[in-house]
Amino acid sequence: MVGLGPKRKPSRKGSMADVPKTLLEEIQNLEDIFTVDADRLKLVTEHFVSELKAGLEKDGQNIPMNPTWCMAFPDGNEQGTFLALDMGGTNLRVCEITLTEEKGEFDIIQSKYRMPEELKTGTAEELWEYIADCLQQFIEYHHEDGDLTALPLGFTFSYPATQDFIDHGVLQRWTKGFDISGVEGNDVVPQFQAALDARGLPVKLAALINDTTGTLIASAYTDQTMRVGCIFGTGCNAAYMENCGSIPKLKHLNLPPDTPMAINCEYGAFDNEHKVLPITKYDTIIDETSPRPGQQAFEKMVAGLYLGEIFRLVLVDLHENKNLLFEGQDISKLKKPYTLDASFLAHIEEDPFENLQETQDKFEDELKINASKPELELCRRLAELIGTRAARLSACGVAAICKKTGTESCHVGADGSVFTKYPHFKARGAVALREILDWPKGKKDPIVMLPSEDGSGVGAALIAALTLKRIKEGNIAGVRNVQKYDIWMK
Ligand code: BGC
Repeated sequence: MVGLGPKRKPSRKGSMADVPKTLLEEIQNLEDIFTVDADRLKLVTEHFVSELKAGLEKDGQNIPMNPTWCMAFPDGNEQGTFLALDMGGTNLRVCEITLTEEKGEFDIIQSKYRMPEELKTGTAEELWEYIADCLQQFIEYHHEDGDLTALPLGFTFSYPATQDFIDHGVLQRWTKGFDISGVEGNDVVPQFQAALDARGLPVKLAALINDTTGTLIASAYTDQTMRVGCIFGTGCNAAYMENCGSIPKLKHLNLPPDTPMAINCEYGAFDNEHKVLPITKYDTIIDETSPRPGQQAFEKMVAGLYLGEIFRLVLVDLHENKNLLFEGQDISKLKKPYTLDASFLAHIEEDPFENLQETQDKFEDELKINASKPELELCRRLAELIGTRAARLSACGVAAICKKTGTESCHVGADGSVFTKYPHFKARGAVALREILDWPKGKKDPIVMLPSEDGSGVGAALIAALTLKRIKEGNIAGVRNVQKYDIWMK
């Protein structure tokens, strides 16, 4: 291993043998800028705890810490039929969920629709029309005979929203590359409901939900030790249960201090001032060229939407400015922003061949680039570095919530394409948690992140069910118009 210090290990033994010195030096450089060591993780976590606390103190902080008016964990005995609509970054999903008599069980029918790319930069009207169309199609398909009476709907809207009520949500800002005019600063519920009413659809929104809160509640439905719900997908974020007494910004509402309240942290916005995050010049380009510069600093380093783009920016830089890669080749395909997504990196990391044949084929097929073996080695190491940095930084958010709440052992339910599909993400995150929280070696990890797929559907139904239940019991905190819920109160 020419030129690499004694502590640095190559990703695969002996694989760097033919890599020329200039590329080795560049690999070393990339390792230096993308590696986040244990001390930095601890520093990031400490600052994270202080930002979580600041967000609970008052509005307008980096991490918004949005109260969600989801005020209980499920006990597994929830029942009823609900509609759930999940507007994600990539897909729109409509589900009908029946929480059955058997504890913790449910039946589900669902349809998936693609969120058209052009919708993401269109107008509010186009967005709500499209969503209402999908919902209409779902109802017509599954209830041909018109046998549907106003079902309560849980709408999973996975963007930062201020909720003064459970059926209210003022969009703070678009994230994940969305830039739809006419929504930021407005309550999305009346806009959405108006589109449904205009079509005469028998659907009324009972609860507006974040995907993290949905994940928290869905995973707690079958596992009572779940304390945090996370998404590591196109975006990243987490939700957890706080006591109302520990939310100073809600003091004026005089809520019982020991009543739980799910908090949608919106921690993708952590450290927007870049006080502790190890920002590289590539992260800066991502931020500056995004529709919302200066926002979602943490998310832009760890979420799936950005991993492929970080990788792409490095390769273009090494080709254009350092003349280190793909010399004399046409890299026009690679030059297109956001042309690579996280699955491209995942494939590279999963390439089982010593000569990185599959990676070479991918470069050839998708980018029309003929990469040499040493170049492929650099790409492989770069993918590992970017994927590892994301997983390790992700652990800081989870560690910070556990530190803030004094939770020493629990399960953390996680969903999202990066968590479920990106190679080694779970294991790398677990190693980082161990380093941050200084757990003794050789013992079982007290805090474990577990896959919790499908929070958006079941979680939304459960939150709608929990809302109806508490209204019946007389807890109308965060309910704007109790009469609206009368139709479901039988
Ligand atoms: C959004 C969050 C969401 C997360 C994961 C972020 O961009 O702001 O509301 O929970 O993505 O989908």
